[in-house]
Amino acid sequence: MQLRSRSSALTDLVGLEGESCPQVIAVSSGKGGVGKTNVVANVGMALTKLGKRVLILDADLGLGNLDVLLGLVPRHTIEDVLAGTHTFGEIVLKGPGDVHVLPASSGVPQLTTLTESQQVIIQEQLAQFAGGMDILLIDTGAGISTSVTFFASSADEALIVVSPEPTSLTDAYALIKVLSRQYRERRFKILVNQAKSPREASEVFGKLDVAADRFLHVALELVGAIPYDDYVPMAVRQQRAVLELFPEAPASEAFKKLARQIVQWPKPVLPKSSMQLVWQRSATHIGN
Ligand SMILES: Nc1ncnc2c1ncn2[C@@H]1O[C@H](COP(=O)(O)OP(=O)(O)OP(=O)(O)O)[C@@H](O)[C@H]1O
Ligand SMILES: [Mg+2]
Repeated sequence: MQLRSRSSALTDLVGLEGESCPQVIAVSSGKGGVGKTNVVANVGMALTKLGKRVLILDADLGLGNLDVLLGLVPRHTIEDVLAGTHTFGEIVLKGPGDVHVLPASSGVPQLTTLTESQQVIIQEQLAQFAGGMDILLIDTGAGISTSVTFFASSADEALIVVSPEPTSLTDAYALIKVLSRQYRERRFKILVNQAKSPREASEVFGKLDVAADRFLHVALELVGAIPYDDYVPMAVRQQRAVLELFPEAPASEAFKKLARQIVQWPKPVLPKSSMQLVWQRSATHIGN
């Protein structure tokens, strides 16, 4: 609720016609381990191959592992930025396809719940750093903690990853419920990962869609399905993106297809997110 009111306060501060800002896509899930980090890493890389400048924020702040997945070795992380000793410009790393990665720390329980002042630091750092990017992908981590809901609700698009496991569906439903009831989110994009067939993917989506429509009155959109693919864990073990190591693998093809779709997603006409508003505010200040 406080976040909503801050967002409204920012609305008062800035004009609604702004410079071009990155499209902000938060990748979330209710249950852990469904594949968010792989989605972010591979879709990010696929988007760079389509000519997009991509920034990935590892917002699984206390348990980040995007850097491990990509074989990157960060010297500093977002923890240092929140401590005030570093800026995003100083911690950013280059990943495959020249994707830019802001790495998180691991094993820092205090960061699993972001305070409001930490949220402000992240927004202000993004305002300074992310302006030149086309797309900002945020790996939010799993669950319904405030750090997940903060990023999911302040992005332009909340992309929720589900796997065919029933627990993944119930936990995704719980996340959608929190985002719709507490943050008044009405639209969610759903990605089914680890489906054994396209039919299984559409059945998984169908179950979630029926429940969300009937009980939460929100609109879900199935944006894609990534097949279960043994090449993914093989690449993970080698600390490389599957798209980099096995570009023709079924999962890699699905990540490329999703990236081609994402570049077609319309940018919101009005800035929905508090992050967009911060960018517009900084763009306005720069322009003045
Ligand atoms: N399409 C897929 N096919 C096969 N295995 C997959 C697929 N996607 C992910 N995995 C496997 O699932 C595991 C979890 O993936 P990942 O770390 O991306 O999940 P996550 O949602 O980010 O987890 P966490 O919630 O812990 O951050 C990995 O070991 C990966 O190999
Ligand atoms: Mg992860």
